[in-house]
Amino acid sequence: MPALQFSIQQVDSASAARAGTIVTDHGTIQTPIFMPVGTVGSVKAVTQQQLNADVKAQIILGNTYHLYLRPGIEILNKAGGLHQFMGWHKPILTDSGGYQVFSLGSQRKIKEEGVTFQSHIDGSRHLFTPENVMDIERNIGADIIMAFDECPPYPSEYQYAKNSMELTHRWLDRCIARLKETPDLYGYTQNLFPIVQGGTYKDLRTASAQYIADKNAAGNAIGGLSVGEPEAMMYDFTALCCEFLPVEKPRYLMGVGTPWNILESIALGVDMFDCVMPTRNGRNGMLFTSKGVINIKNKKWATDFSVIDDGFISNISNYYTKAYLRHLFAADEILALQIASLHNLSFYLWLVGEARNQILNGNFYAWKQEMVPILKQRL
Ligand code: GUN
Repeated sequence: MPALQFSIQQVDSASAARAGTIVTDHGTIQTPIFMPVGTVGSVKAVTQQQLNADVKAQIILGNTYHLYLRPGIEILNKAGGLHQFMGWHKPILTDSGGYQVFSLGSQRKIKEEGVTFQSHIDGSRHLFTPENVMDIERNIGADIIMAFDECPPYPSEYQYAKNSMELTHRWLDRCIARLKETPDLYGYTQNLFPIVQGGTYKDLRTASAQYIADKNAAGNAIGGLSVGEPEAMMYDFTALCCEFLPVEKPRYLMGVGTPWNILESIALGVDMFDCVMPTRNGRNGMLFTSKGVINIKNKKWATDFSVIDDGFISNISNYYTKAYLRHLFAADEILALQIASLHNLSFYLWLVGEARNQILNGNFYAWKQEMVPILKQRL
């Protein structure tokens, strides 16, 4: 079956930003795009109906590590894959677990074969290899599946980053071989995205981006960034990777980031983003808005009866007031988490949609320069 199709409608004249379209068997994605994170098959505090109608999500993320541990592959396979299981019929991307094994699993041991780790749920021991991760991602059934990689911490010694990158490359080749040997399980195409690693070393990043580009995958990802390095360094390495990743394939910057990180990275040529910030920070009372960042728990909002954000059209953000949402947080109401998550996700999806409009209108760079300082303001 054919791979996903990526086409570019417009390239910005003043930056590397592009407006594109990704066609998958579960529908079309307009890029640049932000992908809400639904780790265990649930975007926390948001229903699938709300993801469609309010957030206007076009693709969501699932996670191999979490879904493998719970509910497990047998149940997902019986359900006919994650789309059927959760009732989300638009595109899904699964991360490979390469990252979660390192951030969540304990007592992990990395070997050539793969990684052994202990479950964060019950302490049971497991082995992830490129082969069984591909089998698990087959059973989950996402439209885009990430290669199994190692994401080195920041900072890492040169030799550690080099060995880790070379291991990630060998694992990639094993992922590709395994996918060739195994069929799509549910009658639609699954597309493997390889991941550039190489830490914060220019020669390693260049070598990794070239290695990944040579695989001629349907799309390519940049990993190992936004792991504690300074923001300027993240932009420099994103730009370097984009230089070597093919122009005609979608580029995905993993785990990024704030609204301003996203606009700056779009300007560098990135098309796809995911991050837990809008949901996780939202549940802590941090709101990203078109006018800047709000800590809604702050007393100063107690009598602010203006709506959460009137800077874009949204039946959530234009409806509930700051004072009401602050009250819900103060009273520990579940609705606080729902409204904050819905607002933040709606805002992120508006922001990337507006970036796309500005690229198509030929005004992206000027708009981005104007927006970034506004988005960063603490209100
Ligand atoms: N999510 C954020 N960064 C990474 C990464 O480097 N690798 C993977 N697999 N997922 C990520």
